[in-house]
Amino acid sequence: MPLTVLKHPVAKHLLTRLRDRRTEPNIFRALCQRLTTFLVIEATRDLETRTDPVETPLEPCVGTVLTHHLVVVPILRAGLGMLQTVTDLFPNVAVGYVGLERDHETAQARSYYCKLPPLDGRCVLVVDPMLATGGSAEQAITLLKDAGARNIRLIAIVAAPEGVARIGDRFPEVPVYTAGLDRELDENKYIRPGLGDFGDRLYGT
Ligand code: PRP
Ligand code: URA
Repeated sequence: MPLTVLKHPVAKHLLTRLRDRRTEPNIFRALCQRLTTFLVIEATRDLETRTDPVETPLEPCVGTVLTHHLVVVPILRAGLGMLQTVTDLFPNVAVGYVGLERDHETAQARSYYCKLPPLDGRCVLVVDPMLATGGSAEQAITLLKDAGARNIRLIAIVAAPEGVARIGDRFPEVPVYTAGLDRELDENKYIRPGLGDFGDRLYGT
């Protein structure tokens, strides 16, 4: 399974500010969107294009336009913090939603919502800021594959080695993009050093 960890110094700076416990929700949301831009750019490097003639104010030239059919699927709730970045970059993107919540005791994800557009023949970006045990991403990707998705990419702001290994074992064809590959999971299945509970920090809960 291909794993890409961002190396750009601006991405590292943004991630450090996200990790900082003093970062308030309004700044946290803005940093999340900015960092997601770097991840999405990386995850869409190979999108299909075609040449297209265009006239500049000075002369005609040959340009390039996207021909992709892109779908983004945020995993609720925290994935919503990454959604606007994708819709801003790709105004014609179709949006699906998968609602999953980890049980605080068992860390098992429970599905509570699923609404998906047609996925066949589309490139599907799954956005979820935290890849911890990988249970949520595994469930989401299984739902997407059952619904016909064949070209899936997983984008997470922070990933734990355990989650990366789980996705690699279950879905070796799914590339994972992250801004930080952290040390480990703790006894509560939180990523260390991590940045805490992403959804709570995003929404001030
Ligand atoms: C968080 C996070 C992921 C999941 C990762 O969501 O946004 O979806 O945990 O953990 P895992 O890899 O061990 O499954 P959470 O279940 O806390 O729900 P929320 O987004 O509503 O806060
Ligand atoms: N979900 C989070 O929000 N943070 C973690 O560290 C793990 C799962």
